[in-house]
Amino acid sequence: MSSIQSFLGKVTGQPSSYSKKHNYTFGKVLGAGTFGVVRVARISGSKDEVAVKIILKKALKGNEEMVLEEIKMLQKLHHAHIVEFKDWFESRDKFYIVTQLATGGELFDRIIDRGRFTEEDASKCIRDIVDAVAYIHGQDIVHRDLKPENLLYVTKEKDSDLVLADFGIAKLVTSPDEKLTTMAGSFGYAAPEIFLGTGHGKPCDIWSLGVISYTVLSGYSPFRAETVDEFLEEVDENYQVVFHTRYWKHVSTAAKELISRMMQVNPDKRPTADELLRDPWITGEAAEDTHDLLPTIRTGFNARTKFRLAIEAVKLANRIKALEMGDEGKEEEADPDSREGPLQYFHHSATTGSTSSSSSSTTQTSTHPGTSTKNAGAKLHEIVLAAQRAKEIQQQDQQPASSTGENKPV
Ligand SMILES: Nc1ncnc2c1ncn2[C@@H]1O[C@H](COP(=O)(O)OP(=O)(O)O)[C@@H](O)[C@H]1O
Ligand SMILES: [Mg+2]
Repeated sequence: MSSIQSFLGKVTGQPSSYSKKHNYTFGKVLGAGTFGVVRVARISGSKDEVAVKIILKKALKGNEEMVLEEIKMLQKLHHAHIVEFKDWFESRDKFYIVTQLATGGELFDRIIDRGRFTEEDASKCIRDIVDAVAYIHGQDIVHRDLKPENLLYVTKEKDSDLVLADFGIAKLVTSPDEKLTTMAGSFGYAAPEIFLGTGHGKPCDIWSLGVISYTVLSGYSPFRAETVDEFLEEVDENYQVVFHTRYWKHVSTAAKELISRMMQVNPDKRPTADELLRDPWITGEAAEDTHDLLPTIRTGFNARTKFRLAIEAVKLANRIKALEMGDEGKEEEADPDSREGPLQYFHHSATTGSTSSSSSSTTQTSTHPGTSTKNAGAKLHEIVLAAQRAKEIQQQDQQPASSTGENKPV
């Protein structure tokens, strides 16, 4: 640190890296994160745009090393299908992680927007992800949070690459046989061994890949469970993935067999990412391009999109509010994007729903390692609120004649 920087730091009370903030002009919010928001930013004096994940230190409740881990990990990863790290800096109250901007949207939103989606297209997107996973596993990194929201298209072009983002709970396993025991991952995508606490490692990413593949090909989740207990009951030692004929009759046996192999309850039996890269369905040889799966995927997807959007809206509202509250130091310029309107509405609804107990209080259990119980409690509270609001929206949606209850077919 130069003496000028250190002098300025003493005067302003800001860490020395804070001066980097002036290199960026912040724009709209791209997405809601667990501890803050992600915004687009332009590099001053150029047309180049980047994504900046802004993390509230207060929200981390003393677990700041978690963010430093994420930065350290991202910094050493260079791969066509992994979001490229660019820079980082901090203020008194926030961490800023600057990465390559992915403008093509999240995986599912894009699939739904397409005119046609075949097994070959599905195979290409799964291949991109498997490629990234094989790369990180080769460096003994387990991602632990593979899910569609963390898979982004780089551009809006039809043949755009997918990139894996969010190394927030990724972990380095120091020896090949080391097992991690902290809870991690998101309900719906996390492997059973994570909830069982019996130790998890690279195979937990393969399970999530299986769930993603299932969902990409059908539009709906392979599980009926809505809580962890239900999930562990559903996924017992005799568990077999169910492919409902109505939704799967046009999907090849190769795809179904592959998903079943990835989603084996015994982690040791799942194929490795390297093995997957040689699988004929993943390479595209066994993936046909004759049948358009999109109409069926849309049916399975409709209800769940609304559900997810509602959750996102609540998360976003809460995070923005948190960010505003964290702005005591006036370090951030007035934010240009409007935050009134619908977000207020969502926030209000979420607040009014806070007193009712909800059976869906365990619908999401993404917990960062080292997270204090207090923090987990706050997060759970937020999730309960989000789930509550999402439920209300779903109920509202189901009232009109058009039925959207296709999320969990039997
Ligand atoms: N590089 C990026 N380009 C565009 N959008 C992004 C980028 N990184 C994240 N986002 C958006 O922000 C959301 C939250 O970011 P993420 O890194 O997943 O945070 P968290 O660890 O809190 O989940 C993502 O789901 C995505 O919609
Ligand atoms: Mg994420």
